[in-house]
Formats: sequence, structure tokens, C-alpha cells
Amino acid sequence: MIIANEKDVTKAVLSELQRAPNPRFREIMAAFIRHLHDFAREAKLTEEEFQAAIGYIVGLGKHTNENHNEAVLMSGTLGFSALICLLNNGDRGQTETDANQLGPFWRLNSPLTANGGSIVRSPTPGPALFVDAIFRDAGGQPIAGTEVDVWQSSPEGFYENQDPVQADMNLRGKFITDANGRISFRSVKPAGYPIPIDGPVGELLRALRRHNMRPAHLHFLAYKEGFKTLISQLYVPDDPYIETDVQFGVTRHLLGKFVRHDETRPQTADVKPPWYSLEHSFVMERGTARLPKPPISGRARGERPQIPHLEAV
Ligand SMILES: [Fe+2]
Repeated sequence: MIIANEKDVTKAVLSELQRAPNPRFREIMAAFIRHLHDFAREAKLTEEEFQAAIGYIVGLGKHTNENHNEAVLMSGTLGFSALICLLNNGDRGQTETDANQLGPFWRLNSPLTANGGSIVRSPTPGPALFVDAIFRDAGGQPIAGTEVDVWQSSPEGFYENQDPVQADMNLRGKFITDANGRISFRSVKPAGYPIPIDGPVGELLRALRRHNMRPAHLHFLAYKEGFKTLISQLYVPDDPYIETDVQFGVTRHLLGKFVRHDETRPQTADVKPPWYSLEHSFVMERGTARLPKPPISGRARGERPQIPHLEAV
């Protein structure tokens, strides 16, 4: 159509969408175009601001490589990943859910580890942590034979694939739930960590006067035929950034029940107090078991990276 005014532009684009044979794609594109055009109208976006926005999107691509995904980081930083997660889990946002974001650091083929075993594979400082987790269906029945990947950052705030100092697969493991739906393992208490700020995400955080920290957490990915793959994180409640996670991942339901112990642990003479225990019961929804694509594939080499901390103002 020939365009007479600004309103006609939206009409023209929407009418062209009718050519798309896939109805779901048409529906998504129509909502996207309407909101995108109305966003420009509401914000009264200037030509300079539009140019800046395009530069920003180009920057997301330029800052993405096999070790880092800036688009995923931006989505989290805008709360979009948290929103998508909560809209699609817990009976479509109606009930509490154990689901949470995958984050960028999950890897395929974590080493199979016996229940009760340790995921500390190279010298790693920090207090010992003993985790007990149980996986159940919505009716409360334990799910035996679930494959559970766990992964976490070191107490220095690095995942092993970011950190040349750690052994391959340090602080990662794959466990199989027993007849009671249970896994257990030994680790170290995780620490929070800064997200990278050398790209558009850093620019955004500085402009908003926000910090770049994620509060300390443990990641879980539970896979069992007949169930939707459960991707979860448990957070350390007394972390200083628990209220202001830069990725908006912390939900009340996923505040981990970390218990500090100041006595010796009889079963493990080598553990010096204080040590911590953590128990959690996960619920898996019925659905299709699917593994995500690992967001990054590379491994850091050379020096340990230096990721600066931004302080919130
Ligand atoms: Fe993480």
C-alpha cells in the first residue's frame, strides 16, 4: 500500500504478514510489529536514538563468540529471560515453580559421579557444602533414575570453563536419582560473581547505575523421559546481592535452605567447621524431555579473566 501517514506504516506491515503460511509465526510477528511501532510512538523515539539502538543491536552480535553470548546476557539483564521462564512453567505462571534460567555455563557430558561423591576436582578454597536433593512428580512421587547435572562457580566466582586455574569439569557432576528420587554430593559453598561489562550490557548497566553481580547459586538440570527437563538454580539467601540479581533470577521459592554448622562433621573427619548443608525438593512437570543446546562451547585459556565489579549508585 502507498503510505499517507505514520499510522499507515503499521497497517502496511501488518497486511504484508498475511502472506506467511505459518499461523503461529504470523501471530508472533503481528504482536511484535504492533508493540515495536507503538513503542516508538510512546517514547517519541528520535532519529539519533534510533541510530543508537541499531548500534546497540549490532554490538550484541559483535560481543558474542564461542566463549560468551551477549544476547543471552542482555535478555537476562532486561528481565526477559526470567519472564519467559515464569510464563512457561508452574502451570503457566499460576503456581510456584522450581524452573529457572539455564545461564551460559552449562556443559554437556558432566562426569557421572556416584551419590555422596564430590564434585571438587581440583584444589578449591571455601567451606564444604553437602547437598541433598530429591526429585518428585507433581503428585509427590519420587522419580527414580533421573539424570541430574549440577554445576556452580568456585568461591572465587568463576566456572571452570571460564577459569584456566581450575581442572576440567571442576564443580560439575552428573548424578542419577536413587529409588527415593534422591541425589547427594559434596562441594564447596558457591560465591556470587560479576557478569562481563565490556559490551552493550555493561554500557546499559552503567547508564542505569546498576551493579553487575549475580548472587551465589547452584545450577541443576534434571532429565527424565516423560518429564519436562527441569532447569533450576538454588540461591544463597544471605548473599548481599540477593535482592538485586543483575539477571532477575531469584524467586522466593528458590531461596536455598543453606544451614551453617559450627561443629565437626562426624562422617567426614577432614571437614573443618564451618561447613554447610543444603536440602531441596524439586518438582518436575510432565512433558517432553529435551536437552538445551549449550549456550557456549569454548574454554578459557591463559590467564584467569579479570571481570570488574560495578557498584550500584
Ligand atoms: Fe550461574
